[in-house]
Formats: sequence, structure tokens, C-alpha cells
Amino acid sequence: MKTVFSGLKPSGDMTIGNYLGAMKNWPYQQGLARTIFFVPNAHAITVRQDPTELKKRTYDLVAWLITVGLDPKKSIILVQSKVPAHAELCWILDNYVTMGELSRMTEYKDKSQKLGPEGQLVGLFNYPVLMAADILLYDANEVPVGEDQRQHLELARTIAERFNRLYGNTFVLPKATIPKTGARIMGLDDPTKKMSKSDHPDSFIMLAETADSIRKKIKRAVTDSDNRIIYDKKGKPAVSNLIEIYAGFSDETISVIEKRFVGKGYGEFKAELAELVVEKLSQLQAEFYKIRDNEAMLDKVIDSGSAKAAEIANEKLREVKEKIGLL
Ligand code: TRP
Repeated sequence: MKTVFSGLKPSGDMTIGNYLGAMKNWPYQQGLARTIFFVPNAHAITVRQDPTELKKRTYDLVAWLITVGLDPKKSIILVQSKVPAHAELCWILDNYVTMGELSRMTEYKDKSQKLGPEGQLVGLFNYPVLMAADILLYDANEVPVGEDQRQHLELARTIAERFNRLYGNTFVLPKATIPKTGARIMGLDDPTKKMSKSDHPDSFIMLAETADSIRKKIKRAVTDSDNRIIYDKKGKPAVSNLIEIYAGFSDETISVIEKRFVGKGYGEFKAELAELVVEKLSQLQAEFYKIRDNEAMLDKVIDSGSAKAAEIANEKLREVKEKIGLL
């Protein structure tokens, strides 16, 4: 049986971009594959975090995982810091990757440029190696992520191949599985930039956004020059982005959506889109608050999931140590 593994950093409130690009797809293979999902909280500390806030967001994220349909009886749900094997394998893999390879990671280049010398922490540089360790510990075949994680996945594969060549078959070579639509939801105010919580509030919609605010933000979203609802990423990037959001929440194909809106303008389309997003998000939110309220239950999920994960991870770590001569 193949293994599906993924996670999302608990470093900010989640947006509909995180949801449509990644999380929404995670439950699909539950029951058909070994499914493992985690909260990479040790990745979050590569930029400074408020400790109380980080803890809260870790619980939030576990609650969201359950909200979107992950069932702790069918999937392993773990928190990274509860399974020390991640950090230990990261240290080992650090010796199978070069400074040059890590310097070419675009996420590092972007972030370190934004943060300046003070923020250029070794942990931030090393982020992709910890990520490779996360994935390789569990023999993950498929890693469902958004488009922005593709390069990190390629590096994990390179490291795995290199290790296997040196010591014989040890790691499964992981593959990124990126959805055809929704993998890269763009900012509502600027369709050339990925939707991000760190940009202007008008550019993103949070999963926890209120109905009024969702309506306002969609109304204000930029559109393109003519008044037609047609998907054309190059020629009409803003409307195409809104169509992708519509498709993600309605589970309809782009051509079905285009047909529905033939002869209708942006105003009508945006009003319908807003109601769709409000309806779907308010359902999710109601479910989320119920689950989030029960922290004792969340602790149980985290502890038992992390214990199950540790068994798998420790076995892989033991094999790796044996191969390289570490006692
Ligand atoms: N880098 C991912 C993000 O930004 C989080 C992550 C860390 C991850 N380790 C992973 C995702 C392993 C998939 C697999 O959200």
C-alpha cells in the first residue's frame, strides 16, 4: 500500500489558498492508502514566533485537519516536535546535501532577502532538509502540496537518491502531487502574486473570515479589462483566479462554470462567488469551532497519532544509523 504524507506550517492563520491548494485534497485517499498528516511546528520557528501563539496555532491546525475530513482512526495525525526522529534524521541528512543546493532554494532566497541578515538563520537555510527528513522517515510515495513546495520535494528526492546510491535502497523516492486547479491561488488585489497572509488584508481570505468580510473582499477583488467570465490565465489572470476559487469550492469544472456565466458580467459572477464561499466557509467554521473547543480530545489525537508515527519513524532512523555506522 502506498503512503501519502503532507503537512502545513502553523505560522499564520490559514487562507483559502492553503485550503484549496493542499488541505482540501488530503482526505481523498483515506482508506485507500496509508495516510499520514502532520503539523510541522519545528519548521515554524525558522522565523520568530510568539510561543503562546505558536501553541494555539498548532491546536488550530490539528482541529482544521479534522474539520476538512481527516479521521484520526483512518489517518495518522502527528505534531512534528513530538517525534524527535525528524530532527535527528535532519542532522544526518545535512551531511548528504550541499550549501550550493540549499542556496538555490527560491523560498530561502525570497525570505532571506525580505528578512535581511538578522533573519538569515541557519534553521531557515536548513528548512528543506528537515522537510526531506519529514517525508523520508515515512516512506512517503506521494506528497500532496501546493505549487510552491515543488522545489522542496525535488530536493527531498535528490537527497533520497544520493543516500540510496551510497548505502543501498533505504528511502522511497517521494513525488509531489499538485492539483490541476487551485494549486496556486493568487492575491485578490494582485493576480501576479500568490495569496499570502503577509500581504495586504484585501489580498486574502482566511478560513476563519466572517461572511461580511468575505463579501467585501470579493467585491473589491481586481478584475480584467473586458466583462467576460472566461478562464485564460495569461490574458485574464484576475478573473481566472476567481474562477479557480469558484471551482475549488463548488467542485465543478472550469468549463461548466464558464458556461453558466456566458453573457453575465463580473458583478453577477462575483456576487455568486461570494455566496458560494460564504456558504462553504461557514459550514467549515461551525465544524471547526466545535472541534477546537475540545482541547482534551485534540491532545488525545496528537498523543496517540504521534506515538504511532514515532514507531514508524524510529524504525527508519534505526535502519539509517545502521547503514552509516552510527551506534
Ligand atoms: N513547507 C511546508 C509549508 O510551507 C510544510 C512542510 C514541512 C511540509 N515539511 C513538510 C509539507 C513535509 C509536506 C511534507 O507549508
